[in-house]
Amino acid sequence: MKKKILIIGGAGYIGTKLCEFLIKKNYDVTCLDTFWFGNNLPKKTNIIKSDLRNEKFKFLKRFHTVIHLAYLSNDPLCEIDARATWETGPLALYNLLENCKKFRIKKFIFASSGSIYGIKKEKKVTEKLGLDPITDYNKSKMICEKVIESYKKYFKTVILRPATVCGFSKRLRLDVVLNLFCYQAYYKKKITILGGSQIRPLLNINDMIRSYEFFIKKNINGIYNVGFENLQVKEIAKKVAKIFNCKIEIKKTNDPRSYRMNSDKIIRLGFRPKYNYENSINELKEAFEEGFIPSDINWNLKWLTKKKWI
Ligand SMILES: NC(=O)c1ccc[n+]([C@@H]2O[C@H](COP(=O)([O-])OP(=O)(O)OC[C@H]3O[C@@H](n4cnc5c(N)ncnc54)[C@H](O)[C@@H]3O)[C@@H](O)[C@H]2O)c1
Repeated sequence: MKKKILIIGGAGYIGTKLCEFLIKKNYDVTCLDTFWFGNNLPKKTNIIKSDLRNEKFKFLKRFHTVIHLAYLSNDPLCEIDARATWETGPLALYNLLENCKKFRIKKFIFASSGSIYGIKKEKKVTEKLGLDPITDYNKSKMICEKVIESYKKYFKTVILRPATVCGFSKRLRLDVVLNLFCYQAYYKKKITILGGSQIRPLLNINDMIRSYEFFIKKNINGIYNVGFENLQVKEIAKKVAKIFNCKIEIKKTNDPRSYRMNSDKIIRLGFRPKYNYENSINELKEAFEEGFIPSDINWNLKWLTKKKWI
């Protein structure tokens, strides 16, 4: 029988590609989402249009694994609406987890974030280091992690701390560094870098979704970093500029975020990344050249740019 997977926030950037991938792998996939960014999901996805904050989750009995992706997914968005951040994050989680316990799901996988480490001096930012979350986004993710861990006696709990994800999805995010540079390179013929010496750990979206399947199959609890390349923002820009053949402009930034990540723990468990950031650039170039137009040209992109966060 097909394993039933519920993906909360499954219509977003990562979720859209994850639903496609898991359906191809013969899982029975249901997506619960508010569909803020539209619906680009494959027809075979079972759809529940709902806001996590008001959902009673009485249908959970059928599910083997719950993957939780729904969030206000970046620092500036959380800054616009701190209340919605805490409501969608830690506050909605209690009701969800209680129902997961009641209906005896087998596994809960949560998308935390590598950014919750804050700014670290250490070269190897492993899961053993303490957390220094800076923004509401990171702080609320940290609280979610603690709440989820307290349920590990009832079902397997896996907490993933992904790096900045990059590459193509039919719901394309343009507020993440590499995707934004590719968008600028193709549509504006010029990449604008704010600062440039900041380090960003990157993760190709195809490895992100492969890591979800890896954990659906593994009978294990734990917290795992997922990010395999630590690069300076200007290095990323140079590679994009080379592949798209465009110019780079450097401006000042007020963005203090600079972090790196070490993912030896997930490697020791047997996961092997197959893709890199250059694959993401080429995949995006191909999509733009084939006429793909990002639907949201992020509705908050202007605001984010004004704040000099991206
Ligand atoms: N993309 C990245 O680089 C990255 C890196 C680290 C962690 N993450 C985390 O991974 C998860 C998915 O990220 P993404 O890039 O796909 O983000 P996204 O913004 O594209 O997707 C989030 C989805 O959640 C839905 N949603 C938000 N609030 C909801 C609510 N109250 N009820 C139901 N649905 C709701 C949105 O409609 C959207 O489809 C997020 O939790 C994010 O914090 C993402």
